[in-house]
Amino acid sequence: MGGLPEQEIFKVFVTREIPQAGIKRIREFAEVDVWQGMLPPGRDELLERVGGCHGLITLLSDRVDAELIEHAGLQLRVISNYAVGVNNIDLEAARLRGIAVGNTPDVLTDATADTALALLLAAARRLPEAIDNVRQGNWKTWEPKGFLGVDLVGRTVGIVGMGRIGFAVAKRLHFGWGMQVLYTSRTPKPRADQELGAKRVSLTDLLKGSDFVSLHCPLTSETRDSINTKRLALMRDHAVLVNTARGEILDQDALYEALRNRRIFAAGLDVTTPEPLPTNHPLASLPNCVIAPHIGSASFDSRNAMALIAAENLIAGLTRQPLPHPV
Ligand code: DGY
Repeated sequence: MGGLPEQEIFKVFVTREIPQAGIKRIREFAEVDVWQGMLPPGRDELLERVGGCHGLITLLSDRVDAELIEHAGLQLRVISNYAVGVNNIDLEAARLRGIAVGNTPDVLTDATADTALALLLAAARRLPEAIDNVRQGNWKTWEPKGFLGVDLVGRTVGIVGMGRIGFAVAKRLHFGWGMQVLYTSRTPKPRADQELGAKRVSLTDLLKGSDFVSLHCPLTSETRDSINTKRLALMRDHAVLVNTARGEILDQDALYEALRNRRIFAAGLDVTTPEPLPTNHPLASLPNCVIAPHIGSASFDSRNAMALIAAENLIAGLTRQPLPHPV
């Protein structure tokens, strides 16, 4: 019989409510099921809801492993992560099944770099402690020796992982505060060298030579727990450590000891292990540890742009086109 081939009906599961612009775009191509809970779906719910889907929009809080891919079924074509980091996805399992994986780089670079700066300043200048002091009615007078912190101008920042976000942080600190820049990276970064006068060094030299250290590497088997007791011992005693990458890069027990014993001055963390960090976690009790609830990319513009990119990746995968942002 002649006639047009039947239009394929794609089924998509979105594991949390993301900005409407993205959902609206996906609805032009697919039947969309959006998880409405305030919290992510539990494992059983997740496995159930992915069944029969052609595409998934996932979050960094969803573990997308071989089991989940198996549950989804053979028709699954694309996993579009609403994040730049993809450590929540078993990329090898996806590759073996020919499933495209996308992420949302670039659009969150500035927002995340700004968050790193906010944490760096807050930790260096003890802002949360000072604000609590006011809130609790303890501001009695101007204190000549109260809340003394660390200066930024003319110091050295060490960027662990000179990717897009690392570069954006280094640029802010170099041009804003006149900092020298050291960095580690698997490959040389001529742009950082030329534009920021940055110097690629070993992790040991970076930790020894920096007043501020900001982590921007992906979480891999190599980077997991790479900032441990031995490495923290190399840092300067007035150093401030910032992590907006992934919690697992830091050995948190080692960090707790280093902060408690004033081995380093302070830390600013946007990411922890686990997330959320329990309120009774030892790190949460330290005045020199500033912790934010993984808000690196949480600006209106970034999250909207991430939703649109996630949608475009998903649509490309459904229609078997190359993803605009493949992993
Ligand atoms: C990411 O995208 O990986 C961030 O951690 C959250 O936006």
